[in-house]
Amino acid sequence: MIVMGSDHGAYELKGVLKAYLESQGKEVNDLGVYDATSVDYPDIAEKVWNEVNTGKYEFGILLCGTGIGISIAANKIDGIRCALVLNEYSAAKAKQHNNANVIAMGGRVLGPDLAKSILDAFMNAEFEGGRHQNRIDKIHALEK
Ligand code: RB5
Repeated sequence: MIVMGSDHGAYELKGVLKAYLESQGKEVNDLGVYDATSVDYPDIAEKVWNEVNTGKYEFGILLCGTGIGISIAANKIDGIRCALVLNEYSAAKAKQHNNANVIAMGGRVLGPDLAKSILDAFMNAEFEGGRHQNRIDKIHALEK
């Protein structure tokens, strides 16, 4: 199961990605928003993380206009490793090296086909562990 949320700047891309995931048989929990009414992206980041943090999900997806604000907000939360993914290479590395538990994308930056391809690159990659796990442990040590 995958959980996702967006601000008003990316609710359309959220709909595209939700339909894409469901077409692959994935179960999706869509936490909104569903229209262009202005909201504050840190609230969406917190809401999605509260779900990812239950352990019930493969990962979370956060979307805003650029993906920047919502990824900055997300990475203030203990436990989250949110990767802003702009292309397939960075998406694959976000899993292989960073074991990101949340990915962020920008609805005003990415077209629908590129966003789907980026999502595929993340989902098809495997975490490599080893030295990368040591680095992840050091990331979380910075939270204390
Ligand atoms: C909202 O207008 C916009 O600032 C937001 O979606 C995002 O791009 C922020 O980083």
